[in-house]
Amino acid sequence: MESVQAIKQRFGIIGNTPALNRAIEKTIQVAPTDISVLVTGESGVGKESIPKIIHQLSHRKHNKYIAVNCGAIPEGTIDSELFGHEKGAFTGATQTRAGYFEVADGGTIFLDEVGELPLTTQVRLLRVLENGEFLKVGSSKVQKTNVRIVAATNVNMFEAIEKEKFREDLYYRLSTVDINLPPLRERQSDIHLLFRKFASDFALKYKMPTVKLSDNAITMLTKFRWGGNIRQLRNIAEQLSVLEQNRTITSEILRSYLPDSASTNLPAVIKTSKSESDFSSEREILYKVLFDMKSDLNDLKKLTMELMKNGNTKDVEKNNESLIQKIYGDTDDEDTDYEESIDTNTELISIPEHTVEEDLQPVQDKYHFAEEIEEEETLSLHQKELELIKKSLERHQGKRKLAAQELGISERTLYRKIKQYDL
Ligand SMILES: Nc1ncnc2c1ncn2[C@@H]1O[C@H](COP(=O)(O)OP(=O)(O)OP(=O)(O)O)[C@@H](O)[C@H]1O
Ligand SMILES: [Mg+2]
Repeated sequence: MESVQAIKQRFGIIGNTPALNRAIEKTIQVAPTDISVLVTGESGVGKESIPKIIHQLSHRKHNKYIAVNCGAIPEGTIDSELFGHEKGAFTGATQTRAGYFEVADGGTIFLDEVGELPLTTQVRLLRVLENGEFLKVGSSKVQKTNVRIVAATNVNMFEAIEKEKFREDLYYRLSTVDINLPPLRERQSDIHLLFRKFASDFALKYKMPTVKLSDNAITMLTKFRWGGNIRQLRNIAEQLSVLEQNRTITSEILRSYLPDSASTNLPAVIKTSKSESDFSSEREILYKVLFDMKSDLNDLKKLTMELMKNGNTKDVEKNNESLIQKIYGDTDDEDTDYEESIDTNTELISIPEHTVEEDLQPVQDKYHFAEEIEEEETLSLHQKELELIKKSLERHQGKRKLAAQELGISERTLYRKIKQYDL
């Protein structure tokens, strides 16, 4: 039997915490059997490696391994994808088609995001698990298959059962053995290891020197909560590798890349001093746009607060000259287009003289103006997100898995967004 260390090396799994080693050990033990395995753990913890190891260490390794993302297949077609269909079973079924359970006969099927399976499909799946039997959609002929099933989920299955979204009998069938992968925050000693691996991979990929962390930055990295687990750490390592001129990352630099729980979830990843030409890919440009918008909004909030506190006086204008300049640029600018564009905002920039006593009502109106800006910003963010998703899907010929990877989100999130934007 291969050792845990050898398996980690073979499958590119980094880390040495006891909980990770235990999960891999369990995987090695269960692999040669035909027992159904359920891999659990938060999003981004690395669940997808486990079924690959199981397949490769089993007697099925020369047969097919098919990974199915149950969350990414529309409800209307999932039965046909998994079990196939007969010609004429539904509109558009011009040919009889074999499903994954037929194609993978003798092999392994990985049902990723199994918690997303519709209830009707769960019934069909239960039958396969119980006696290896299934029916093609539109057929009454029982077929047999010999498939090993490994499933994965990042949702709480007991809650899903409670809410009657998942069949309890199917859950127990799937989870004869449960392999749980710990969240990254419980693998603190692995965090820097993983970062170094990703930093060196990205240095190779982008042909740049490897980024290194200062001691303080290592501490910050290790203490961070990592809600998105290894996927999030990988994204941060990629952003630092691509965007940072200074290859030694201090805690100050790192802080600007880590999402701030107190502010919005916008990825504040770019220093304002960077010029447009520093950003080669769309994602980087988008980060810059988001960051700039966020920064503008914060400046506007500050200014509005000043006006609320002190009223529309010349003093406010004078004390906040640099802030006003930062938001609106040089108001003496000769450029007519620019002047037109700021004209509608003159309420805020050319502040009329007021006394503190008489200012309350007008100031509240100006606060309202700031809220409008926030709304516009949200709208344009949605627009940008939509464009980014569309382009990524085009680039990958509609392959959601690749698009989701490029966008740094899970396939399920991408699927939801596709539905949300009606793409
Ligand atoms: N131990 C590890 N060593 C190196 N890379 C890892 C490790 N674990 C995960 N990764 C990387 O982290 C990313 C996320 O892993 P994976 O896709 O398996 O997450 P997941 O648990 O399936 O998440 P989700 O529930 O969102 O689908 C992948 O790019 C994967 O290669
Ligand atoms: Mg996954």
